[in-house]
This record gives sequence, structure tokens and C-alpha cells, in this order.
Amino acid sequence: MEQKALKIEAARAALGHVEDGMRLGIGTGSTAAEFVKLLAEKVAAGMRVIGVPTSERTAAQCLELGIPLSTLDETPELDLTIDGADEFDRHLDLIKGGGGALLREKIVAAASARMIVIADESKRVDTLGRFPLPIEVNRFGFKATVLAIGRAADQLGLSGPVTLRMTDEHPFVTDGGHLILDASFGRIPDTRALSSALHAIPGVVEHGLFLDMARLVIVAGQHGVESVHADQEI
Ligand code: A5P
Repeated sequence: MEQKALKIEAARAALGHVEDGMRLGIGTGSTAAEFVKLLAEKVAAGMRVIGVPTSERTAAQCLELGIPLSTLDETPELDLTIDGADEFDRHLDLIKGGGGALLREKIVAAASARMIVIADESKRVDTLGRFPLPIEVNRFGFKATVLAIGRAADQLGLSGPVTLRMTDEHPFVTDGGHLILDASFGRIPDTRALSSALHAIPGVVEHGLFLDMARLVIVAGQHGVESVHADQEI
């Protein structure tokens, strides 16, 4: 089965966790976009949900497909967030932000009673870090922030290029008006130490390590769909 079909299978399985009347955080990325399409079919058939999108891109897709939306200010407590991930490990810790929406994704997930991740099997890793870690930073003094990230990484025994994300020869700008740095550190054995070190740098707005947030990862692979729970070792 091709990767897109696997993403659709994971999204379809996640739909089974959505109940009538739920306040839903809706993720960003190609897998989340498949979920939005399937959710829209349910809404058209009469399911009542209210969605809080994690990006302007997702908001536009939801509006186009007729999914009722709210903002996190109007609806600050959510029942469930369904989102994709760039990587997940056996503890269901994640790297997110490949699509540049990590800040809103993290805020929305933190405001949700549960977070379910949908992914194809290519996202499963033994140790996080194969995917470059996205770090959202303030535009002001970002080069100083790059240096500070390098020093923090060095103290943890990590190294590798920290590059400014570009699109069409311009810096990529997030929905929040910030920049994204992609940190290619390779394997990150102590994700909690790196998370704390990054949070201690003033120019860092947020990073793409989502630790202890997902309760369930729905993984679609060539042998079917697997539900991996947070308290279950894989
Ligand atoms: C968006 O910022 C990301 O966190 C996405 O959720 C993540 O990159 C997964 O995207 P895909 O489903 O497109 O792989």
C-alpha cells in the first residue's frame, strides 16, 4: 500500500474515537488533512463537532469542507486532539513541526483532555532525532539564538547543523510570525534534558519535542492498523 493510503487508513481509524458533540483539536500536515476530509463526511452526514484548527492551513481546509470551527479563546478546553507527527518512539514521545505548525499544535494538544496521533509506519523510530528537530524562534536576534542552541546542544553531547527554514528563497514564517530552525542533531538520547535546555533560551518560542502528550498513536502499516497506547511498550 502506498504511503498516502496508509495515512488515510490511520485517519479512518482515528475517526472511530470522535464522538458526537466533541470539541476537537484538529492537526496540521498531510495525514491530518486526510482526517479532515473523513471528518467532513461525518459532519455532512449529521455528526456535530466543533473544531479548533492548529494552523491557518487546516482552518481553510475545514471551512472549505464545512466543518464548524471555533477558536481556542472561545473554546479553551477540548475533548480530543487528532494530529500527525514526524516521528514517534516507544514512549509515544514525538517530533512535530515539519509543517511549521508546532506552536499552535502544542498549545491545542495541551488544552485537550487527550491527544491521538495518526501516522504511517515510516514515522516509528527507536530514538527520536532522525527527523531534524524544528525549533520555533523569535525573529529578533535569531542568529544569537542559533548560537545559544548550539551551545546548549554541545553541553548535552549533541551536535549538527541548525539551519533556518526557507521557502522560495525566503525565510519560512509561522502562523505566529516566527521563524523555524531545523536542528539536525541525530539521535537525541535525553529528550527531556534537551527540552529543558531549549526552553531556557530566551529566543526560543517552542520546540517540536512533544513529550508525554500523546496517549495513543494509530499506526498504519502494510500489515494493518495498530493502536499503540502510552502505557504499552512496543
Ligand atoms: C506540522 O507542523 C507537523 O507537526 C505535522 O503534524 C507533521 O509534520 C506530520 O505531517 P505529515 O502528516 O504531513 O507527515
